[in-house]
Amino acid sequence: MILDGQDSAAIEAAAQALRRGELIGLPTETVYGLGADACSDAAVAKVFALKGRPADHPLIVHVADVAGVDDFAGAVPGFARALMQRFWPGPLTLILPRKLDVGAMVAGGQDSIGLRCPSHPVAQALLRAAQALGVHGVAAPSANKFGRVSPTTAHHVRDEFGDALLVLDGGACAVGIESTIIDCTRGAPVLLRPGQITWDQVLSTCGPTVSGQAALAQPAPRASGTLESHYAPNAQVRLMETDQLQVALDLLGKQADTLSLAVYARTPVRLPSPRVLLRRMPIQADAAAHQLFAVLRELDAKGLKLIWIEMPPASTDWAGVRDRLVRAAA
Ligand code: TXA
Ligand code: MG
Repeated sequence: MILDGQDSAAIEAAAQALRRGELIGLPTETVYGLGADACSDAAVAKVFALKGRPADHPLIVHVADVAGVDDFAGAVPGFARALMQRFWPGPLTLILPRKLDVGAMVAGGQDSIGLRCPSHPVAQALLRAAQALGVHGVAAPSANKFGRVSPTTAHHVRDEFGDALLVLDGGACAVGIESTIIDCTRGAPVLLRPGQITWDQVLSTCGPTVSGQAALAQPAPRASGTLESHYAPNAQVRLMETDQLQVALDLLGKQADTLSLAVYARTPVRLPSPRVLLRRMPIQADAAAHQLFAVLRELDAKGLKLIWIEMPPASTDWAGVRDRLVRAAA
């Protein structure tokens, strides 16, 4: 059931549900999460089961503020503190050394833990209400079945899990793609997943010494966001450079009538047939991220078989969108 996240009674009901070990859907500024009490192994087990996610894939724990970090992490490096200072609350997840007596299940057995302090006012209100009931962290992976496109509205969450789940409605997510993830356990930052906060912003916050070391860091460990075919819609997605896309469309000619094809392009294209559906991708990266998953869901819901997408620019502000598109096409 979808409840208005502005309503304090709804926030209280969701916090009580978390305390009872139940799952809820919650809005964040990135995507909607499937929330559970991070310190209850039984509740966390329900998240893995409902998502269909392997139990060794760690979940992100959401905390109300920077002070919440100390409940879950020890030996927090200085550059991680600097990142929290600059970007929290906001769309940044930090992987930190885990306090070994907490969160083994939520961390998928790893000796690290992913922490994030979301800025969405409904998420903030919920985290504080839950804290007042003794729930000190909310484990929340994106509220979608494993390997599917992340939800950016309360209705998307209901489409994934049905009406029995309590979902707080916080409107359409402002960012629209999942948080940037930075591993802070290896002496220098390592980018595990690009998002709205760019690698350049991360490096400029960490200072020259740490940034220099970052270039030498090892490749990423296991993270479900790094699996090739993650974020996949049902339709077959093909990514093309601008010129290649127009050539491919011209080549289709009359054949386009028989295909169930949608084109998602930033630059104007000539379509071979009025039966090809066209969606324009915004010119700005942030605007494109905001609508990306909703567009993929919409095209899927129309039953389209093929989605041809124009590859966005290679600049760092587009890294998050490019990453999700490459995965959708995998
Ligand atoms: O924007 C977001 O981060 C959203 C919202 C709901 O906050 N959450 C999200 O969670 O995207 P999820 O579970 O779908 O993705 C979490 C990613 C996974 O790829 C997971 O493997 C990685 O974070 N992760 C979490 N804890 C980790 C750890 N200790 N070490 C390495 N990777 C970790
Ligand atoms: Mg996810």
